[in-house]
Amino acid sequence: MKGIILAGGAGSRLYPLTLVASKQLQPVYDKPMVYYPLTTLIEGGIRELCLISTPQDLPRFRQLLGDGRQFGVSIEYREQAKPAGIAQAFLIAESFIGSDCVTLILGDNIFYGGDTFQRAFAEFKSGATIFGYHVNDPERYGVVEFGADGRAVSIEEKPKQPKSNYAVPGLYIFDNEVVRITKNLKPSARGELEITAVNVEYLRRGSLRVQRLPRGFAWLDAGTSSSLHEASAYVQTIEKRAGIKIGCPEEAAFRQGFVPLAQLEVIVGAMPNCEYRAYLENEVLAEAKRMKI
Ligand code: G1P
Repeated sequence: MKGIILAGGAGSRLYPLTLVASKQLQPVYDKPMVYYPLTTLIEGGIRELCLISTPQDLPRFRQLLGDGRQFGVSIEYREQAKPAGIAQAFLIAESFIGSDCVTLILGDNIFYGGDTFQRAFAEFKSGATIFGYHVNDPERYGVVEFGADGRAVSIEEKPKQPKSNYAVPGLYIFDNEVVRITKNLKPSARGELEITAVNVEYLRRGSLRVQRLPRGFAWLDAGTSSSLHEASAYVQTIEKRAGIKIGCPEEAAFRQGFVPLAQLEVIVGAMPNCEYRAYLENEVLAEAKRMKI
């Protein structure tokens, strides 16, 4: 399965923070926002990645993530010249997707807890798999309505009167049909190729699976000043309490077996003295060495 990280958009809601650095490069507590979705894909075992961003921001993502080698993955880069909707990613990345299935994650979505995604990637065969997460303010999102049998009956984008409290988070899994489906989409009233329209088409075909994310699972978006601050506070709380890091792609790559111990030692050795390095040294590497003895 291929993985797309969509890190486009003007970030206008975060102005003036986004005057010189895009939204997905802003810090969420102790690391750039894009580290979190990147880590989610690495934890899901996905090794072939494509990052899509604006022409002005793409060089900075390249500078930050390079070709992905340090995370044991490959990262290609593609431009989204004009923001024309999330689903446009499938057209931009058509040659990258090739004949594979694909997962798309939004660069400002932060997920933490459990193994729902890992399992969904491993079990995925065809059609589409998306998720439902109970929120307080569903009108801000794609909203899924469930029937009595627990199956999805409708999905609406930012409805004024939401039919449920279940929002669709920004991680989607599709078979290769997604490219063809997107090519047949018409732009919505706001002029975008809507991801919700793609999901509705899979629903119409009877091949959409919506999995509810369990209680205890955290989904945060970081697209406004307050949600960015809240996401930082959440990450800090968990990291301080548990002595672990959320959204550390080097660690995820090591635990996945994408990067061997010796290589991680070299990577960590090249980092400046900082808390991030100390974590990888004193927790991840030290623990790995202890386990071997
Ligand atoms: C987009 C999607 C929406 C989804 C949300 C998740 O909204 O259109 O369906 O629920 O991402 O973050 P937007 O970020 O464009 O407001």
